[in-house]
Amino acid sequence: MEINERILHYLDKNVKVNTLQIASEFNEDHQIIVGAVKSLEALEMVTSEAVKSSRWELTEEGKLVADKGSHEAVLYRSIPDAGIAQAELMKTVPNAKVGFSKAMSSGWILIDKSGGAPLVKKKVSNIVDTVYDHLNEIKKGIDILSESVRNEYKKRKLLQEVVLKSFMLSKGPQFATTIKKLETDLTSDMLASGSWKSLEFKPYNFDALGQAPESGHLHPLLKIRSEFREIFLEMGFKEMPTNMYVESSFWNFDALFQPQQHPARDAHDTFFVSDPPTSSNFPMEYLEKVKQVHSQGGYGSQGYRYDWKIEEAQKNLLRTHTTAVSARMLYQLAQQKEFTPQKYFSIDKVFRNESLDATHLAEFHQVEGVVAARGLGLAHLLGVLDAFFRRLGFDTLQFKPAYNPYTEPSMEIFAFHTGLARWIEIGNSGVFRPEMLAPMGLPRDVAVIAWGLSLERPAMIKYGLDNIRALVGPRVDLQMVYNNPICRLDK
Ligand code: PHE
Repeated sequence: MEINERILHYLDKNVKVNTLQIASEFNEDHQIIVGAVKSLEALEMVTSEAVKSSRWELTEEGKLVADKGSHEAVLYRSIPDAGIAQAELMKTVPNAKVGFSKAMSSGWILIDKSGGAPLVKKKVSNIVDTVYDHLNEIKKGIDILSESVRNEYKKRKLLQEVVLKSFMLSKGPQFATTIKKLETDLTSDMLASGSWKSLEFKPYNFDALGQAPESGHLHPLLKIRSEFREIFLEMGFKEMPTNMYVESSFWNFDALFQPQQHPARDAHDTFFVSDPPTSSNFPMEYLEKVKQVHSQGGYGSQGYRYDWKIEEAQKNLLRTHTTAVSARMLYQLAQQKEFTPQKYFSIDKVFRNESLDATHLAEFHQVEGVVAARGLGLAHLLGVLDAFFRRLGFDTLQFKPAYNPYTEPSMEIFAFHTGLARWIEIGNSGVFRPEMLAPMGLPRDVAVIAWGLSLERPAMIKYGLDNIRALVGPRVDLQMVYNNPICRLDK
C-alpha cells in the first residue's frame, strides 16, 4: 500500500494523530510523512495543524558519557588502589579537568600531600554514576529529569533541546481510506465513448509555475549593460564604437592632456603591449598641437612645460579607460565642417594593472557618457547626472571635488543607496579642459561634459555580491547565471 493510503488508514483508526508519531510507527523519515500529508491536504482528505514540540537529546559529548560513563566516573575508575600522582592522572585520563572537579565535589576522591608530590586516591570504595544513568534514560526516550538536573546537564553540554515542527492531523471533508485517481487528460476516447461524463477530473492548478523554457542565459553583466544602453538611448545618446581594446598612449593619455610623466602611464598601472609595441598612424597636425599644449601651453594655459616625446605617445597599451574612445570621437566631431551638438555613450572593457582583490580586477567595464554643446557648464553636468542616475534608481546624489588631468572642474559622484543605507561612490565626472578640446579644433565656445562609472559595481549591488570574482572569472557559478532573473534596475 502506498504511504498516502497508509496514512489515511492510520487516521481512520486513531484519534489524535501527529505526524511524528506516524513517522516512528511507519519507521519512515518525518519529512516524507509531511510531504504525503501535504498532497492529501490538497485533495481535502485530511486537514492539519502545525504544532511545535521540543525534546531533549544527547549532544555528541552526552553520547560519549552515555556510552563510557561520566567524566568523573571514568576518572575515578582509573585511579589504582594505591593512588596516582595528580600530574600523571590529569595527563592520562580524557576530560580529566571536568572529571577531577566533579569527582572532588562528589567526595569520591581525595588528594594526599603527605609524601611530597600530590597523590590522588579514591575516597570511597564504590560510586553510583547517576549522570550515566540519567543520560541512558534520555537516550531511551524516558525523560523524568527535574528541571534543575536537566539544566545542569545542559550547562555541561551533555544535553540539548531540539525543537520539532510537526502536524496534528484530522479527517478532511473528502476523507476516505482509498484515494480516487483523478483524470488529468481529457482524451478523444473519453469523448467518443461518453465516459468523460462519469469521470472525475483533477482541477487545474492555476498557481503552478510554468516550465522554464530551454534557452541560453545572459550573464548578469550583459543584462546590466543592456539596461544602461536602454537608458542612454532613451536619453538620446549615440553609442560610440568601442572595439579597440589596444590603443596608443596618444589617444589614451596625450590627447587627454595627461602629462607623459604621469604615474598612471607607468607599467605598474597600465598594461603595455609588446607586439606591436608602437603605433605610427596619427593625425599629425593635431598631434603637433597636442605636443604644443603639453610642452608650451596655449589657449590661455601655460601647459606642463616639459619635453614632450612622440616615442612616449606611440607606445601601445590596453586602454585604461573608455575616455580614449571619447577623445577619438570628439576629435572626429571637431573635423565636421559645421559643429553640431552631440550626446555619446559607450559601455565596454578597460584594463588596469591593479592588485586584485574582492572588488578589483585587472579588467572591467566602463560606462561613459559625453555631451558636447555650446555654452555647457557645471550646472548642465549636475543636471544630466541627476537625470541619468535617477533612471538607475538613485535619486539622491552628492558630489566631491576631484582631479582628472582632462577635466576641470572634476567631481566624484556619490549616491545614497537605500538598501545599504549608506553613501556609495558610483562615478567620476567633469568638464573637459580647453587644453584637451581646443587642439582638436572644436570651436572655443563648445564645452564637453562627461562622466564615467564601472558596470561591475552596480551589477554587484544589484545582485547582492560582495566579491567581484563571483561575477567574472573562473569561479563564476554557471548556475548563478542560469538562475538570475531578467535584470530590471529599480527605477
Ligand atoms: N576616465 C575616468 C575614469 O577612468 C572617468 C571619467 C570620464 C571622468 C569622463 C571624467 C569624465 O575614471
